[in-house]
Amino acid sequence: MMFASTASPTPHLLPSLSSPLAPHHRHLSTLSSPFTSVPISPAHGRRILPSSVRATPGRVTPLRVSASSQAAAAEASAVSSVPAEMKAWVYGEYGGVDVLKFDPKVPVPEVKEDQVLIKVVAAALNPVDAKRRQGKFKATDSPLPTVPGYDVAGVVVKVGSQVKELKEGDEVYGDINEKALEGPKQFGSLAEYTAVEEKLIALKPKNIDFVQAAGLPLAIETAYEGLERTGFSAGKSILILNGSGGVGSLVIQLAKHVFGASRVAATSGPRNLELLKSLGADLAIDYTKENFEDLPEKFDVVYDAIGQCDRAVKAVKEGGSVVALTGAVVPPGFRFVVTSNGEVLKKLNPYLESGKVKPVVDPKGPFSFAQVAEAFAYIETNRATGKVVIHPIP
Ligand SMILES: NC(=O)c1ccc[n+]([C@@H]2O[C@H](COP(=O)([O-])OP(=O)(O)OC[C@H]3O[C@@H](n4cnc5c(N)ncnc54)[C@H](OP(=O)(O)O)[C@@H]3O)[C@@H](O)[C@H]2O)c1
Repeated sequence: MMFASTASPTPHLLPSLSSPLAPHHRHLSTLSSPFTSVPISPAHGRRILPSSVRATPGRVTPLRVSASSQAAAAEASAVSSVPAEMKAWVYGEYGGVDVLKFDPKVPVPEVKEDQVLIKVVAAALNPVDAKRRQGKFKATDSPLPTVPGYDVAGVVVKVGSQVKELKEGDEVYGDINEKALEGPKQFGSLAEYTAVEEKLIALKPKNIDFVQAAGLPLAIETAYEGLERTGFSAGKSILILNGSGGVGSLVIQLAKHVFGASRVAATSGPRNLELLKSLGADLAIDYTKENFEDLPEKFDVVYDAIGQCDRAVKAVKEGGSVVALTGAVVPPGFRFVVTSNGEVLKKLNPYLESGKVKPVVDPKGPFSFAQVAEAFAYIETNRATGKVVIHPIP
């Protein structure tokens, strides 16, 4: 147990007045798009994928239309405000930023028994979105075409029959893909709607807005899981490589303010040294001027969020742990891939609500929905500070 407090998850939250729940039901026959010409089969009312989102033969699984008529009938009141199709970003082949296409007529995803449908208010990018789009995980990816996006913050507009706690109107956030690299969903969060298992999400902390919330899930769950896997606990020291990125900015805060680290050091470029200190770092190391492994000081844990495990192992104390998120691993370092888990968000919500842990949103953002390709290009520079968030979503 790593927490100083065992505060229970937040009670049910009412949607704020600003929640964008205004229904905007559209009829298929009235759909038109300046971006794509999307033929719709009159027999089934189903969309035929445009060539822009068709991929190699054999790899394309057409996106399916919304819930079955039975399920829809059972939840008629909820469904009535959810359109059949939505605006989304889609790619039908792996490649650079240019494979991303805006598509105004993507079917709203089907909601399974254990899932909720979220009206997306804000979404965030992670490096995994770019790597996935580049085809780096194609062996374990879901079939193309893909609506990208792991992180979401939004409002529940529909619940599956086995959903236990969440209800329509709840403001939620989460990482929609339980296993980041194993069959991530075909319908991601860079869309007006996304469907996600109840167990992967949590109520949004009351004090933060949707933009801040969208940037948290994958990064904070990675930060937390990595610390747990090292057996991190109060009184230990830690060095974080890349303290200014999405994950590292949260590792600093969790180590210091949740786990009770005795000493926190972190690396960044010169422009983010003050940020590291404001988040809780006792020592901020400018990687352009100093080699952290040459410091006389060694650490109980080194958290490598940049891919420098060969150097990280030189900065750890005898018997200490080195956890790596990316790149080649050198013993005793180990690597893991994050598992999305709403319970982690629920545990951490009190720390977010008390302000002990703060979301860090890159000041170049939030990027509008029209700027998703620019946002991808930006995160791919590897220069983002904190999280790259997309808002508003139409
Ligand atoms: N295994 C997993 O489950 C998992 C989960 C999440 C993320 N990851 C991976 O972990 C890595 C970090 O993710 P992230 O979301 O935190 O990335 P990020 O936000 O894109 O990281 C960008 C930051 O990296 C800093 N940086 C660049 N070169 C650096 C260096 N040599 N030393 C220290 N900092 C440097 C940049 O600072 P400057 O601009 O000052 O250079 C920038 O602030 C990515 O490779 C990601 O794919 C893996």
